[in-house]
Amino acid sequence: MAKVTFLANGATFEVAPGTSFLDLCQTHDTPHDFGCTVGSCGTCCLTLESGAANVDPASADELETVEMRTSVRGARLGCQLIVRGDISVKPVD
Ligand code: FES
Repeated sequence: MAKVTFLANGATFEVAPGTSFLDLCQTHDTPHDFGCTVGSCGTCCLTLESGAANVDPASADELETVEMRTSVRGARLGCQLIVRGDISVKPVD
């Protein structure tokens, strides 16, 4: 199992590797906001404070949306993340 930690409130969840972060958030009470859920609005932008290598790489489309939303290096879209191992996440302000 992979552990997902939400630094916003310290909540942790165990998920099977390959689970989408969006699915996790839609089935549990997690402190993370979403909008479009398809990678175009940037509402779900986050940083991986640990475990950046434990998610699938960003697509060109994801990177384009991230760049419109923030200049924070390494930011990702929560709605596009596939969890492969332990991660800790923090929303981008
Ligand atoms: S919810 Fe819109 S980009 Fe993720």
